[in-house]
Amino acid sequence: MLILGIETSCDETSAAVVSDERKIMSNVLLAQLDPHIQCGGVVPEVAARSHLDSLDSVIRRALAEADVTLNDIDAVAATGGPGLIGGVIVGVTTAKAIALASNIPFIAVNHLAGHALTVRLTDDVAFPYLLLLVSGGHCQLMIVASPLDYRILGETMDDAVGEAFDKIAKLIGLDYPGGPHVEKLAQQGDPSRFPFPRPFFDKKDPEFSCAFSFSGLKTAVRRTLEKLGNLTDKDRADCAASFQYTVGEILKNRVLNGLRKCRDMNVPLTGFVVAGGVAANQYLRQSLEKIVMSQNLKFMAPPLDLCTDNAAMIAWGGIEKMRLRQVDSLSFVPRPRWPLVELGRAPS
Ligand code: KG4
Ligand code: ZN
Repeated sequence: MLILGIETSCDETSAAVVSDERKIMSNVLLAQLDPHIQCGGVVPEVAARSHLDSLDSVIRRALAEADVTLNDIDAVAATGGPGLIGGVIVGVTTAKAIALASNIPFIAVNHLAGHALTVRLTDDVAFPYLLLLVSGGHCQLMIVASPLDYRILGETMDDAVGEAFDKIAKLIGLDYPGGPHVEKLAQQGDPSRFPFPRPFFDKKDPEFSCAFSFSGLKTAVRRTLEKLGNLTDKDRADCAASFQYTVGEILKNRVLNGLRKCRDMNVPLTGFVVAGGVAANQYLRQSLEKIVMSQNLKFMAPPLDLCTDNAAMIAWGGIEKMRLRQVDSLSFVPRPRWPLVELGRAPS
């Protein structure tokens, strides 16, 4: 079975062909960086227009690179949300048109499920696993028990991790998207120079043991930079390193608490997975790997190019839904918000 996947929920226009035998036959990605760098962040209207301009040719390239035509495709999957709604509408409408014209099923894939299930495409991981999903819009710790069953142990009360990286980058004077730039700069900095706050560490209430908050950390970085005044290159690098180090300490602590919860609940975890754009950060990957291995658990993370948004993960999400006979009707309505916990409920 071959699935065409389409991803247009943020600023990457992507199309991919993936087989149910876990083979990525193509994964074409067009990052719309230039207009968004100029604005210091993604402008939804600009992103939607850009998806509209390029999606057709990106799909053509994905089919050509896979050496197939639409006649060989068994179903078409598109991100149905959550995301910037203009872009999601472009992807969903295109996928529906292809499904109608080719008389094949249309599948609306939850973008977060796409990130969450990528390790099953790359590593054939069995359920259940503990997942830390860290992207530009989300930060959640959850047990993934099936493609439709996500049990959230904790999530952010304010900013997402990627959002925090992007905001800190802006404060330090780095381009969008900030994550990779902060990571690079942090390599030259002193992570112990600025002791930034770690929210909820002193709270004994189990309700907060897996909760995240990054807005206080962001404010602390901003205040530190304001106090320093004219920043030297060393100030910038130390700030990036101290921020990244603190994020690492927060994530490790929350993951350890999550693993403890899973043990208390007798969840037979097959491993721990970190996914989403921020999972491309090597420092954070290595910190998490150490802590997870110290608990005698398998650590898994998608390869770097499958951590950030791409259509292969959406095609795979479509395959997982097809296997459960969960195809969608052409009246599916694109969703700006679509929490994972709603996936097990009545299909659209
Ligand atoms: O998953 P993703 O591609 O898009 C969303 O679904 O949000 O994640 C994008 C986020 C951005 O905030 C970006 O700055 C962050 O992931 N990111 C990183 C790194 N690469 C991307 N954050 C930290 N370090 C990185 N190397
Ligand atoms: Zn994403």
